[in-house]
Amino acid sequence: MNLKVGIFDSGIGGFTVLNSLLKKRKDVEVYYLADTKRIPFGNKNFIEVRRIAKEICNFYADKNLDALLIACNTTNACALDILEDNLRIPCFDLINSVSEIVNKEIIGVLATETTVKSSYYKNAISSKKENMKIYQQECPEFVSEIEKEKLNFGKLNYLADLYLKPLLNKNIQELILGCSHYPLIYDFLRKKIDLNIKIIDPSEALIKKFNESFAIPKNYRYESLSYENVKFFVTADK
Ligand code: DGL
Repeated sequence: MNLKVGIFDSGIGGFTVLNSLLKKRKDVEVYYLADTKRIPFGNKNFIEVRRIAKEICNFYADKNLDALLIACNTTNACALDILEDNLRIPCFDLINSVSEIVNKEIIGVLATETTVKSSYYKNAISSKKENMKIYQQECPEFVSEIEKEKLNFGKLNYLADLYLKPLLNKNIQELILGCSHYPLIYDFLRKKIDLNIKIIDPSEALIKKFNESFAIPKNYRYESLSYENVKFFVTADK
């Protein structure tokens, strides 16, 4: 029987988690929720994000899920406790998962304003390793640009220079893409950043943890990526 899994984000950012999952296994039935009515989450305050998290719990309440994959860093940072306490199923999150795999001492984090303000990344990484230098940079305009049907690379280039400069000036050794939308422009960002700096997509760490808890069946044959077992939901038409 397939595992029932919920994945949510404010929009298309959760595809980074969805794709990391479906690249490894197909024995899942996914309920993907994009809260398009309230996108972006990243400029909303702590209380608002917690209120949204409660509504997301209401959406999943009757879905009989085996697990929730939290594909939104902003909700992760502000309301992990709400999701866990209300749904009472295993919740896999980006921030704690990726904090366990950072390898270097000088870390840069690109994230939304609210994630940066929460300092959740800083605290999660520092609690796992001593003497870490963690520099966070908010990227207020990235999400709306990445959500566009046709990407405007001129604008993205301007924004990336603006957001990356403060981190590169600190000689970061690893860069965490701390908003699930950002890995969608990974190839573009990779070209702008020295190859010595590792760019980390937290969705891979999350899926690794999920696969450790819900083991891929033995003799399982993976063929190709398919969305046939994904049900998509939006809270508003765009
Ligand atoms: N993709 C989400 C995140 O990881 C939310 C972005 C937004 O809606 O601002 O933070």
